[in-house]
Amino acid sequence: MRSILKEKNLKNKKILLRLDLNVPLNKGIISDTTRIDKILPTLNFLIKEKAKIIILSHVGRPKGKIVKELSLEPIREKLQKKLNMSVKLMTENIKEIKNKNFFDKYNEEILILENIRFYSEEEKNDTNFAKHLSCLGDIYVNDAFSCSHRAHASIHKIPKFLPSFSGLQLDLEFDALTKITSEIIRPITCIIGGSKISTKINVIKNLITKFDNIIIVGGMANNFIEFFGNNVGKSIKENNYNLVVEEIINLSKKEKCKIIYPEDVIVSNNLNGSPQKKDLNTILPDEMILDIGPKTIDKIINIIDNSKTILWNGPAGYFENPNFANGSIQIAKKIIENNKINKIFSVAGGGDTVSLLNNMNAAENFNFVSTAGGAFLEYLEGKNLPGITALN
Ligand code: 3PG
Repeated sequence: MRSILKEKNLKNKKILLRLDLNVPLNKGIISDTTRIDKILPTLNFLIKEKAKIIILSHVGRPKGKIVKELSLEPIREKLQKKLNMSVKLMTENIKEIKNKNFFDKYNEEILILENIRFYSEEEKNDTNFAKHLSCLGDIYVNDAFSCSHRAHASIHKIPKFLPSFSGLQLDLEFDALTKITSEIIRPITCIIGGSKISTKINVIKNLITKFDNIIIVGGMANNFIEFFGNNVGKSIKENNYNLVVEEIINLSKKEKCKIIYPEDVIVSNNLNGSPQKKDLNTILPDEMILDIGPKTIDKIINIIDNSKTILWNGPAGYFENPNFANGSIQIAKKIIENNKINKIFSVAGGGDTVSLLNNMNAAENFNFVSTAGGAFLEYLEGKNLPGITALN
């Protein structure tokens, strides 16, 4: 992997820069800007070198369709403010932009192409789409470690057509995670939560062989709660995953890895409703699980106390509403407490977890905080990440 930091002669070179600007967006408001802040050093470096920058990124999962709410416009505005220079969003159809000289008229500006996932070719890792995109630049830089587990055109295919480099944030995350995983001390506990269930539930099977405890919270836990014969009402869950859960349970017994899922929960009738403590066998059909309950919190705290390494990806509940943030906050507090007295080594990853820690002003109290969620977990699994392989 060659770092762009070591490259000379970038003056006037057109850089196709893949970033992960997938920040939490609600009605155009960005609630956490960590992913934007972290890539500013790369942008400032390229600006100093007088390169011309064309940013590629996605936000959300529009699945090949134009979804107005998932435009990069609010992110463009934020970037412009942070960089204090003009940033222009190209709203025309990317496939109709014909050659790289097109960008010459925007000499003084940084350009962002509209959400790359508005094009179905992106997730299909389409060769012609990647080739077309590569014609817009001279050099490709991947500064999106958090997307590098995706074999998508802007991550995995463009490097086949252009000299390709890693960005500063990718270097930082990759080096830190490599170091951490090679020096990891047992007992290791991995806490997995959040709402991106489908991408995480399969990962658990592969982590069982490596860790001592896997604590499952958040949306994924609902599949476990249901598997053990409880009603989960209107809670989010993955359909047809009973077999996967069964495999996870069986494998965990064989590998002597403890799987922990909630013993009690906090429910409500909707995301804005009032919280109610419930045992698992008393959840009603019109209720949804939005946080873990006090018995579960105690159990998790006890496991953290008996661990030497904690890896945390994904909050325990719908922390955006303070009524359902307690589980995540108590987990964070315990990790921080043990970290301060050097009792554990702690790593947190994923957009929502980072956002939670920022809300608590607690990110500094972890040994390492990665902006990556899925990529972080797949790296822990020991998988080759397509975006990294492509750079090599
Ligand atoms: C992330 O938020 O982890 C990355 O932006 C990747 O997003 P995805 O899970 O939608 O591919």
